[in-house]
Amino acid sequence: MKLGFASFVSAAVAAFTIAGVAADCPDFTTYAQSPQGDPSSGPLALPYMRPSPECRTFNSTAVEKVITDMKARLKDPDLARLFENTFPNTLDTTVKYFNATENLAFIITGDITAQWLRDTANQFAHYHTLLGQDKELATLVKAVINNEARYVSQYPYCGAFQPPPESGLPPSHNDWADGVTVNPPVNNQTVFECKYEIDSLCGFLKLSRSYYQATNDSSFINANWFSAIDAIFNVIWEQSQPTFDKDFNLISYYNWTGGNGALSPAVPNGGNNAPRAYTGLVGTHHRPSDDISVFSFLTPANAMLSVELTHLADVLDATHQAKNISKQACQYSSTITKAIWDHTLVNNVFAYETDGFGSRYVMDDANVPSLLALPYLGFLNKTHPAYQATRKVVWSRANPYYAARNFSGVGGPHVDAWNPWPMSHISAIYGTDSDSEILNSLYTIANNTGGLGLIHESISIYDGTYTRPWFAWANSYFAEMLLDLAQRKPHLIFTDGKPYTPGQ
Ligand SMILES: *[C@@H]1O[C@H](CO)[C@@H](O)[C@H](O)[C@H]1NC(C)=O
Ligand SMILES: *[C@@H]1O[C@H](CO)[C@@H](O)[C@H](O)[C@H]1NC(C)=O
Ligand SMILES: *[C@@H]1O[C@H](CO)[C@@H](O)[C@H](O)[C@H]1NC(C)=O
Ligand SMILES: *[C@@H]1O[C@H](CO)[C@@H](O)[C@H](O)[C@H]1NC(C)=O
Ligand SMILES: *[C@@H]1O[C@H](CO)[C@@H](O)[C@H](O)[C@H]1NC(C)=O
Ligand SMILES: *[C@@H]1O[C@H](CO)[C@@H](O)[C@H](O)[C@H]1NC(C)=O
Ligand SMILES: *[C@@H]1O[C@H](CO)[C@@H](O)[C@H](O)[C@H]1NC(C)=O
Ligand SMILES: *[C@@H]1O[C@H](CO)[C@@H](O)[C@H](O)[C@H]1NC(C)=O
Ligand SMILES: *[C@@H]1O[C@H](CO)[C@@H](O)[C@H](O)[C@H]1NC(C)=O
Repeated sequence: MKLGFASFVSAAVAAFTIAGVAADCPDFTTYAQSPQGDPSSGPLALPYMRPSPECRTFNSTAVEKVITDMKARLKDPDLARLFENTFPNTLDTTVKYFNATENLAFIITGDITAQWLRDTANQFAHYHTLLGQDKELATLVKAVINNEARYVSQYPYCGAFQPPPESGLPPSHNDWADGVTVNPPVNNQTVFECKYEIDSLCGFLKLSRSYYQATNDSSFINANWFSAIDAIFNVIWEQSQPTFDKDFNLISYYNWTGGNGALSPAVPNGGNNAPRAYTGLVGTHHRPSDDISVFSFLTPANAMLSVELTHLADVLDATHQAKNISKQACQYSSTITKAIWDHTLVNNVFAYETDGFGSRYVMDDANVPSLLALPYLGFLNKTHPAYQATRKVVWSRANPYYAARNFSGVGGPHVDAWNPWPMSHISAIYGTDSDSEILNSLYTIANNTGGLGLIHESISIYDGTYTRPWFAWANSYFAEMLLDLAQRKPHLIFTDGKPYTPGQ
């Protein structure tokens, strides 16, 4: 998630209140906007941007060890500095509340004091390999899952939430939610924003199964978690329905009227958006960018859903639980996968969105899930001809949200068409084995941090200015990608050219 320029101004009030963190710690949104010294010895001279130890919101020796290991191996001191700043960013700055006894943790996205389901799944993705060795880190992730299970079971259509009441943290006011009427109705003491984005639910599923894969600990599967899973299956069913039944009765389980919502226009058709026909795909209302969808069936989100449902079935089968859910997950997954191939592909190119009537929007948006990220999501192999053909379109003038001048890449309407996102280069790296493409994307990111050594939301192709100084997901995704290269392409980044896996 990201609200863009205006929002980080109003959210800049965030001050650390977590137990153990000194009250006079600087607000990281401000801190992240000026270089804090100790420049790296490479040509980019990137500053050291971690908060001082007493201001960090969670400490992990396993995380510190990975930083030491990577710094010893990376041949470029600028990349080493970027790794050092980005890898711990989520733990350093976003753990606003954690109580292991209550099994609750509240994780903010960065400059906005709310927990987004999509962001948290991505903010923690690069720590998964460490969960087996760092018990406290694993306990934190389990507490994040449990807190989210509670949100999802109550409000499965919403994507961003307020602190749990146990934390004593006050809810934040969201200017963009003023005047919005959303059905089913929500309570703003629990919900920060209720845009319905199917990939938010995929984020919750991904965090859950990644935790299990890394620990073999099934104790996160409690009644709370099962009620979240039931709520997710309800949404999947409801949002597979067409706009009209055979007698033209309107089928609407969720709608958004009144205010526009952050950086998004008002929603037509009684808050239901564009009509859709049945295909087997699951509809969404807003995109992973929190912008309104043009057409309901978002291909990359359905791809992620299909993948995560198979993982859900695997976890349930491995722990011998809920055969009915596992069976249903497999059925939906294969229906969705088939519908993606049958309804979204023309000349081997996936549309970003379709409506089931034959309309297709050929574009891509930087936010993951994106078409560019299909291999990262686990939907298909980067060598698949349909990915290669789609990638060619996405990374060219045929994609309305591709732009290239001093900076390049894929952006989206969330900021604007001339502000591509570094995140798109990270997804591009996951989607290629070409050394030159990888290095080009890697250094396009490294050369464009505004001299600040952190990963930002978007960069202007005209003057290099950036949006969002403190965007935890982008920092995590960058570090996750460097750890992927550490195994897949060690010769490109390491002095000794030998692969490195954290914790081994
Ligand atoms: C992290 O460790 C530092 C000391 O190195 C300490 O001052 C700080 O309170 C710790 N943070 C948390 C959340 O425990
Ligand atoms: C965690 O929550 C429990 C139960 O509410 C409470 O007794 C305990 O004091 C809390 N721990 C911390 C460190 O706040
Ligand atoms: C919740 O909604 C009420 C009524 O619209 C409003 O007065 C209040 O400021 C809102 N609270 C938050 C935290 O946004
Ligand atoms: C909006 O959604 C609610 C269910 O949450 C439904 O009862 C109502 O009919 C819908 N209204 C419209 C105009 O779609
Ligand atoms: C989890 O269990 C599987 C199968 O028993 C085993 O291969 C794997 O090493 C275990 N992983 C962890 C982190 O314990
Ligand atoms: C699976 O079965 C349980 C217990 O009978 C039920 O509560 C739950 O709703 C079912 N879930 C699905 C997805 O069918
Ligand atoms: C992708 O396909 C190539 C062959 O085209 C194969 O070598 C590789 O293992 C596959 N990768 C995955 C993740 O399946
Ligand atoms: C990054 O900057 C260096 C130094 O200015 C330059 O040599 C290199 O070509 C740049 N790389 C990319 C991909 O922009
Ligand atoms: C952008 O590129 C143009 C030439 O392509 C150059 O003149 C200009 O200085 C560059 N601007 C920045 C901020 O790098």
